[in-house]
Amino acid sequence: MKIALASDHAGYELKAGVGRYLAEQAVEFKDFGCGPNESVDYVDFAVKAVTDVLAGAFDRAILVCGTGMGMALAANKFKGIRATPCWNAYTAEMSRKHNDSNCLTLGGRVLALEEALRIVRIWLDTPFEGGRHARRVDKIKELEERHFKP
Ligand code: RB5
Repeated sequence: MKIALASDHAGYELKAGVGRYLAEQAVEFKDFGCGPNESVDYVDFAVKAVTDVLAGAFDRAILVCGTGMGMALAANKFKGIRATPCWNAYTAEMSRKHNDSNCLTLGGRVLALEEALRIVRIWLDTPFEGGRHARRVDKIKELEERHFKP
């Protein structure tokens, strides 16, 4: 499992903790930024990480901003990315079992490190259940092929 890790300034500290955890667990990852003490736009860092996931260089992405929401909004613009903001063990488990999440987004301003690492562990370890959930995820994939007009 190779992880593309990225954050904006609001997610930097939590991302650093997640990176330390991944290293301890011998999970291969690359940190796409941002660095410390810079103010950046989360969209740019979502783009960097998910582009490499879609290119096949990484299996999944973990993105951290202030709330996890901006990163999810940006990442979900990419066909093939299923980004899920998770805020506890249950949402982490369901994001994998039911949604086949390939992009975990976390909120550096709303999550303590301990809870975030629990989420990361569950998200990494939990397989997709398939079955009726695969049918639903397939419908999301079909939506990606269509162009909606209001
Ligand atoms: C940055 O201030 C903040 O808006 C960003 O990290 C994120 O929470 C947006 O969704």
